[in-house]
Amino acid sequence: MPSYPKFVTVHEVGPRDGLQNEARAVPTSDKVRFIDALSATGLSRVEITSFVSPKWIPQLSDSSEVSTSISRAAGVHYSALVPNMRGLDNAIKAELKEVAVFLSSSETHNKKNTNKTIDESVAAFTEVIAKALGAGMRVRGYISTVFGCPYEGDVDPAVVVRLSETLLSLGCYEVALGDTVGVANPKQVVDVLGEVLDTVAIEKVAVHMHDTQGTALANVLAAMSLGIHIVDASVGGLGGCPYAPGASGNLATEDLVAMLAGMGIETGIDLDKLVDCSVMASTFIGRELPSKYMKAHVGKKQRAHRMS
Ligand code: HMG
Ligand code: MG
Repeated sequence: MPSYPKFVTVHEVGPRDGLQNEARAVPTSDKVRFIDALSATGLSRVEITSFVSPKWIPQLSDSSEVSTSISRAAGVHYSALVPNMRGLDNAIKAELKEVAVFLSSSETHNKKNTNKTIDESVAAFTEVIAKALGAGMRVRGYISTVFGCPYEGDVDPAVVVRLSETLLSLGCYEVALGDTVGVANPKQVVDVLGEVLDTVAIEKVAVHMHDTQGTALANVLAAMSLGIHIVDASVGGLGGCPYAPGASGNLATEDLVAMLAGMGIETGIDLDKLVDCSVMASTFIGRELPSKYMKAHVGKKQRAHRMS
């Protein structure tokens, strides 16, 4: 057996990556309830929304209201995506202490997602990151399409390495490497991350796996076999990227936490409370979510209830 980390930090992206892709409009009050419930599970990081153009992502057009309405729990880092200076200014007004910038390792996805070339994104984020750091914020950097692009196919790992180094040198505290469309496999994860880890410190690398082909958990385990210990996930498996056709939800947080608990790896997260959040999201979204653990757990509870 490889030696896995003893503790995994889970970066919850359900309220952002999950809800950005839902067809049904979710009332702000439901989002706030959802984020407050997530804050009580033991999660130390919750990505709550995006300060992006409402023309591009109408689902998150209430980002300011969400940010100012949640109850901020001690010990939880709340963050939001920003695509440009305007987004950062709005995040500062909403008193967020952490933002995330994002770009892709393939030109076509970067253009479709942000209407910029990769170089233009780097130039814009150079100023955004500097201002955020000057305002005392933490900045996370996302790199999308790391394991394959829905438009261009294969991605050169050297581009991922270069962009990781660039975002970290600009001041990001960590880079999250995204399998945006969920096409990675565990061997590829080890190969690509191996190249990144040749020059980037392991504590600065997180993985962000979508579960389109059911391989997200296996891919996370492959990353953990290298020592990666920061993992993005989305309660219920909510999510996708509206500018990545075919991308489905992120790895479900409860599936990840349940597997880790079974392996004796700590996360500090209460699985029952997480499942309650998943049930809450499924109710306000109005559809069954893909999480396997939730189905098994809720089914077991219902059977026990019928028998009692
Ligand atoms: P653009 O159309 O080139 O820019 O969009 P623009 O400056 O012409 O702005 C268009 C309109 O949006 C204007 O309004 C601006 O004022 C407004 P109008 O004048 O037409 O009425 N606008 C804004 N409004 C509010 N907040 C802002 C803002 N900026 C402009 N910050 C832009 C460029 C970057 C803004 C746009 O492309 C955008 O917002 N893109 C975001 C797309 C997005 O959020 N994608 C999903 C997140 S990435 C993801 O999911 C992947 C990830 O999960 C990792 C992975 O899975 O790999 C992170
Ligand atoms: Mg994503």
